[in-house]
Amino acid sequence: MITFNNVSFRYEKEKPVLQDVSFHVAPGSKTGLIGANGAGKSTLLKLLCGLEQGSGEITVGGLAVTPDNLSAVRQKIGFVMQNSDQQMFMPTVYEDMLFAPLNYGISREDADRRINEVLQQLQITELKRRHNHRLSGGEKRMAAIGVILVNNPEVILMDEPTSALDPANRRMIIKTIRELPQTCLITSHDLDMILDTCERAILLHDGRVRAAGPAGEILRDRPLLEACHLELPLSLSGRY
Ligand SMILES: Nc1ncnc2c1ncn2[C@@H]1O[C@H](COP(=O)(O)OP(=O)(O)OP(=O)(O)O)[C@@H](O)[C@H]1O
Ligand SMILES: [Mg+2]
Repeated sequence: MITFNNVSFRYEKEKPVLQDVSFHVAPGSKTGLIGANGAGKSTLLKLLCGLEQGSGEITVGGLAVTPDNLSAVRQKIGFVMQNSDQQMFMPTVYEDMLFAPLNYGISREDADRRINEVLQQLQITELKRRHNHRLSGGEKRMAAIGVILVNNPEVILMDEPTSALDPANRRMIIKTIRELPQTCLITSHDLDMILDTCERAILLHDGRVRAAGPAGEILRDRPLLEACHLELPLSLSGRY
């Protein structure tokens, strides 16, 4: 469903951010993309939805991610961004949730039904009429996840979905992700969440794929994680 083939990218001439990155994500599977701060995780997700362009080949659902295909590619993808302020651009949560469905020609009635379903699923019905710029960080993150779920995209990218969330909302998002039928690529420093939600993991280090495989193996490999400036998930560290 997602393929990267020898993808390289740099923002500035002298400093490569991604080098020769290749991997694939199977349809309906969930993959955790992990790595230290600055490893290139958010950049990789931006390349995948065409917000940045590098060299090499990227495909989503069989479509090449190229400037010609961008609108078709973006219809397939829902992207929960690391900074929710960049994602929410309408005055209220409801208007943000309504924007894409109406754009894609869905009736107001059907869109409203779907919006109410998602608000209930995430238990954030009280946020519906709230102004985006008056939400707390965690409320905004929950609303941003809701906006993406309303569209029911084929592929869901989540950049740090649990950052800023309290324990109950974090649990809610973990449960929601586990129940999603879609292909998901999720970046996080919350390695316990990755372990709970993802069957596969990709570890980025110094702009390269250092390891890719079953999440349960990569996240148990203390020497590998430590070599990439990460630590074992808390639940596996024996510190409980
Ligand atoms: N717009 C930009 N211009 C120049 N450099 C950038 C830009 N955005 C990111 N970078 C640099 O690219 C590298 C990768 O950044 P990226 O945001 O992809 O990392 P990340 O793995 O998502 O990190 P984090 O865990 O902190 O979110 C970093 O060194 C960062 O400073
Ligand atoms: Mg990031």
